[in-house]
Amino acid sequence: MNVILFGPPGAGKGTQSALMVEKLGMAHISTGDLFRENMKNETPLGKKAKEYVDSGALVPDQVVIDMVDDVLQKLGGKSFILDGFPRTVPQAEALEALLKKNSMNIEKAVFFEVPQNILLGRLTGRRVCKNCGATYHIEFKPTAKEGVCDSCGSDQVVQRKDDSEDVIQTRLDAYDKSTAPLKEYFQKTGQFVSIDGLGETDKVFSEIKSVVAP
Ligand code: AP5
Repeated sequence: MNVILFGPPGAGKGTQSALMVEKLGMAHISTGDLFRENMKNETPLGKKAKEYVDSGALVPDQVVIDMVDDVLQKLGGKSFILDGFPRTVPQAEALEALLKKNSMNIEKAVFFEVPQNILLGRLTGRRVCKNCGATYHIEFKPTAKEGVCDSCGSDQVVQRKDDSEDVIQTRLDAYDKSTAPLKEYFQKTGQFVSIDGLGETDKVFSEIKSVVAP
C-alpha cells in the first residue's frame, strides 16, 4: 500500500515514517529531507529552496512537484510513504497526474491529529543528527550522551534552523492556510484517515499499522 502522511509541523510524520521503513520495509519520500539534503550539498535545487525553508514558508508548488516527479520515477515498485507532500491543493492535483503517468495509486492519506499547544514543545525540543538524520527530543527521546547520536555515534546532533520559535510560527501559519484544506480534499477522494498523534510513539505506530498493513 502507498500512503500520504500529512499534518501540522511536529505532528510526528518523520518519526512514524522511520518506523514504517524499519518495520514495514516501505520507501520514504520526505520533501523536507530532500530539500535539506540539496541545501547541504548546495545544489541548484537546494539554493532555490533555501530562502523558503529557512524562513518557514512553503517552497513554490512547481519546484516541489518536479522534484517528486523525479523521485517517483526512480522508485522501482516498492510501497512508499509520501511525507510532507502534497502540502497544498494544487500539489495534490498535480500528484494525481503524476500517479496516473507512472501507473501508481495512493490508497490512504493519513492525517495526524495533534493539538496546536503540543506542537511547539515538540518542535523546539527536537534535535536531529546531521550525519544520519536520526530524530531526538530533549525531553521525550533524549540521546544517551548529550549531542551524540545513538544511531551513528556522530557528535553532530543539533537543532534544525527552522525549529526556532519565530520560524515555527510561520510554518504553523503556512500549515493553517495551505495544508489544512487538504483534509477536505482527501475526504472527497475517499482516501482520508485520521489517527491520534498523541501518546507514546509505539501506540501511534500501532494505529498507523492497522491502517497501512491491516
Ligand atoms: P518538513 O521537513 O516536511 O517539516 P514539517 O512538515 O514542518 O514537519 P516536521 O519535520 O517539522 O515534523 P514531523 O511531523 O516530521 O515531526 P517529527 O516526527 O520530526 O518541511 C520543512 C520545510 O521544507 C517546510 O517548512 C517547507 O519550507 C519545505 N517543504 C517541504 N515539503 C514541502 C512541500 N510539499 N511544499 C512546499 N514546501 C515544502 O517529530 C517532531 C518532534 O516530536 C521530534 O523531536 C520527535 O522526537 C517528537 N515526537 C514525535 N512523535 C512523538 C510522540 N508520539 N510523543 C512525543 N514526542 C514525539
